[in-house]
Amino acid sequence: MAATGGTSKNDSFQKSLQPNQALRMLSQREVRILDTPEHLFQAAADEFESLGSKAIQRSGRFTVALSGGSTPRSLYSLLSTKTSIGWDRVCFFWGDERHVPPDHPESNYRMAHEALLAKVPVRPENVFRIPAEEPDAATAAARYEQQTRDFFALAPGRFPRFDLMLLGLGPDGHTASLFPNTAALNENNRLVVANWVEKFNTHRITMTFPVLNHSACVMFLVSGKDKALALKEALDHNSVSVPVARVRPLDGRLLWLVDREAASSLSADQKRGT
Ligand code: 6PG
Repeated sequence: MAATGGTSKNDSFQKSLQPNQALRMLSQREVRILDTPEHLFQAAADEFESLGSKAIQRSGRFTVALSGGSTPRSLYSLLSTKTSIGWDRVCFFWGDERHVPPDHPESNYRMAHEALLAKVPVRPENVFRIPAEEPDAATAAARYEQQTRDFFALAPGRFPRFDLMLLGLGPDGHTASLFPNTAALNENNRLVVANWVEKFNTHRITMTFPVLNHSACVMFLVSGKDKALALKEALDHNSVSVPVARVRPLDGRLLWLVDREAASSLSADQKRGT
């Protein structure tokens, strides 16, 4: 299902802003702390449902980039029970993928397929899996970039505007597969790259910061004590030390959904989202 896309609006939008407005907008974000993981996933499912119905009402489709790892599995399972979502209008992408085939235990696609996609009436043509079975990771990234460009009908130099970019947070402050001290952190032109991650001795395929930051809504889902220090760093306005601190939507909503364990190191201001 082709769709109009592109960010000429954003570019002119950016140029129209005064520096302080841009800074203030960049610093606007919502931090919601939920008592338990169950409440966290319920809040995320409610947001997904609300964003989805607005997007479908507005443009006839809901473009979502899913995150991987273990945290979102519970959200995907909960979403699979929702019959009020227009599943045939939802277009699924992935923010990142491991360099493995789709049936591999570590595949983000496999996890989402098992927990959600196999259980709801999505249209197969609306599921855009990263072709990570491709032996050459750079080729996989290039193919996915082109597929994304084609879907959003992007002019050269333009970035897609996902209705929802779902992201997680690693204990080292990475998000998607934008890991500390990796080349992808400096990529400002490509949409999707193959990123060599030394500590795993493998490539990951990942969307880049410009794509994340052109989203209409970035929603982080963070659970557990092991994320507390990374979250504190991520919400520190002055920090650029962790990759995730560079996720700042240019013209979109930034929503942090975190549970009490993950929020246990936050300051009072950070808990207020200021
Ligand atoms: C991945 C994810 C990654 C994830 C974080 C948190 O491919 O692993 O996209 O960015 O969100 O590593 O993972 P957990 O939810 O497993 O803690």
